[in-house]
Amino acid sequence: MENSPATPATPAPLIDVPDFEREAKARMPHMSWEYISGAASDELTLRWNRESYDRLRLRPQVLVDVSHLDTRVTLLGRQHPLPILLAPTAYQRLTHPEGDLATVRGAGAADVTMVSSIFSSHPIEEIAAAATRPLWFQLYVQRDRDLTRELVRRAEAAGCEALVLTVDTPVLGPRNRELRSKFSLPPGVDRANLRGLPNALGAHRSTEGAIFSALLDPSLTWKDVAWLRSITKLPVLLKGILNPADAVRAIETGVAGIIVSNHGARNMDTEPATIDALPEVVAKVDGRVPVLVDGGIRRGTDVLKAIALGATAVLIGRPYLYGLAVDGAAGVTRVVNILRREFEMAMAISGRPTIASLDASVIWR
Ligand SMILES: Cc1cc2nc3c(=O)[nH]c(=O)nc-3n(C[C@H](O)[C@H](O)[C@H](O)COP(=O)(O)O)c2cc1C
Repeated sequence: MENSPATPATPAPLIDVPDFEREAKARMPHMSWEYISGAASDELTLRWNRESYDRLRLRPQVLVDVSHLDTRVTLLGRQHPLPILLAPTAYQRLTHPEGDLATVRGAGAADVTMVSSIFSSHPIEEIAAAATRPLWFQLYVQRDRDLTRELVRRAEAAGCEALVLTVDTPVLGPRNRELRSKFSLPPGVDRANLRGLPNALGAHRSTEGAIFSALLDPSLTWKDVAWLRSITKLPVLLKGILNPADAVRAIETGVAGIIVSNHGARNMDTEPATIDALPEVVAKVDGRVPVLVDGGIRRGTDVLKAIALGATAVLIGRPYLYGLAVDGAAGVTRVVNILRREFEMAMAISGRPTIASLDASVIWR
């Protein structure tokens, strides 16, 4: 007699960010996967962004009343229920047909702020209309300063509460997996904020031989940061600071915040892990402006470690894209909620029930 067929296995639930990563990879077209997951050259910094978090050991403290956990932080005068924001990522329609609109809805349901990329797949006005939490706008100053001024005006009119100027990308880095996959923008994915302009479509990197991109201004200097500040009332944060001397210069230029970032390891390989760069930047900034950090955050314990080492908040990039790929807006919300839950567990088990109680003593030295 034949054995009765085994009950079909129900797929295991997705429990953590690595689960979402695996599932996203299985669902996404190869080229899009290589674009979102790839990094520069040998991808050493990509690995270090993770390994440096893994190397940090935690020092728990027992018999502390942790029956009430308070994860709130104040950032630029606004209270955020959780010290996590969504980092700007370009071309989100590569990941899900609803792109940035799904992300902003997912962010709203999870009560976190999204930083919308200049290279979003929907115009900033549409993303803002779908936002239920404060929205920030990330920009690369364009070679055409009038265009930059116009983008700033549109972000202001749409109600964005801060500008994030990315300063670590005068040129794109050598993203070899992207090149091997012959990455190009497929039909239906454009730079929606630039519609009507020659740069709305087409390659985001120059052809072989040339390193400069029409979408990035390699002549940008500190005087342009001062100029940007002069044309907006919005607070300006600089994204992509690793060097403590640059952090000092940023404060002298009057920025409202600093984001310690190596662009998710996508620009220059062998830059340090951001969690290793953070403490010295925090020491130089000395509380004058908030310092945020991104790169490699995949666990609630990573969030805890970043806060303990002086970050006001963290940003996540690829993790929410994995959620977006798997389940659109709901997937984005689930990924944030996974990190929230893990972070709260880490706070409770380490005996640090508030953000203020999370200092360097939680790191095992
Ligand atoms: C697919 C992708 C697109 C990105 N696009 C942008 C962008 O348009 N502007 C920007 O400032 N940073 C961009 N970044 C960098 C992220 O803002 C962030 O610094 C990085 O993803 C954080 O590392 P993580 O992915 O390990 O969390 C991008 C990152 C990824 C993965």
